[in-house]
Amino acid sequence: MFDTVYFDGIYKRKADVSISPDDRGFLFGDGAYEVVVAYRGRYFRKREHLERLNHSLRGLRIGGLDALSLDPILDDLMRKNDVGSGDVTAYIQVTRGSAVRKHAFPPADVRPTVFAQLMPVVRDPSFKTGVSVITVPDTRWSRCDIKSVNLLPNCLANQLAQEAGCIEAIFVRDGVVLEGSLSSFFAVFDGVARTAPKSNYILAGVTRQAVLDICEREGISFSEEPIYLTELQDAEEMFITGTTREVAPIIRLDGQPVGNGQPGPFVRRLAELYRAEAEAATADAKTA
Ligand SMILES: Cc1ncc(COP(=O)(O)O)c(C=O)c1O
Repeated sequence: MFDTVYFDGIYKRKADVSISPDDRGFLFGDGAYEVVVAYRGRYFRKREHLERLNHSLRGLRIGGLDALSLDPILDDLMRKNDVGSGDVTAYIQVTRGSAVRKHAFPPADVRPTVFAQLMPVVRDPSFKTGVSVITVPDTRWSRCDIKSVNLLPNCLANQLAQEAGCIEAIFVRDGVVLEGSLSSFFAVFDGVARTAPKSNYILAGVTRQAVLDICEREGISFSEEPIYLTELQDAEEMFITGTTREVAPIIRLDGQPVGNGQPGPFVRRLAELYRAEAEAATADAKTA
């Protein structure tokens, strides 16, 4: 499935890709990535994802590549893999390239390694019916705005969540609730959806922004202000957002029911509005 991938300027079968053991992505986790979803064969918010990849590349000081130039690759992959009008996710990764192992950057003529592939969209039914999450201490670095391939704290946190029978771990730093290991976090207080403000401590989620844009347009109250762990007991509803998870209600946090333990009206409405927006945007002729 989706056997044709892009690797360093060439489309080939995934089984034929060989990556150098000197690649800095392999040695240091020195690279950035993006995941873009396509509905019915059309990408949703692709430009936002590629702009965020540029932000990540700038943050890592990986030069010589404009992520927007990767746009046609995503369309080619769709064609070459006969996606037609199916749903799919595209994964794009850029590393600093391949060079003799040394912490400081390699010489300027070392080119970034670019890899892109398509993957099936995995939709767990609980993304609709409600998910359980745990909170964990945030052990990540302080450049979480960079979507780095170096995801060890996220993997460790997510594994803890899975072992607790949950699907997501929500990072808490100095008592402030920030985001999940692979999603943004919202809580609803007195009818106002609140999410952490953009900073170096969270990834600027594309879905988070889409949800805020919907709130703005529909006159739904929201704020981008810190959420404290001690306040969570007062939240009427909570939800996570992400490119493939869309808007998923949280029904249990740290083993305790959220609200009455069912998805609340606020998150159900937002999830419907988000779906409608994704449908409308991908029904249109423009896919950017
Ligand atoms: C740490 C983190 N926060 C938030 C998100 C959600 O971002 P987006 O809505 O752009 O998928 C992700 C997605 O992978 C993530 O890894």
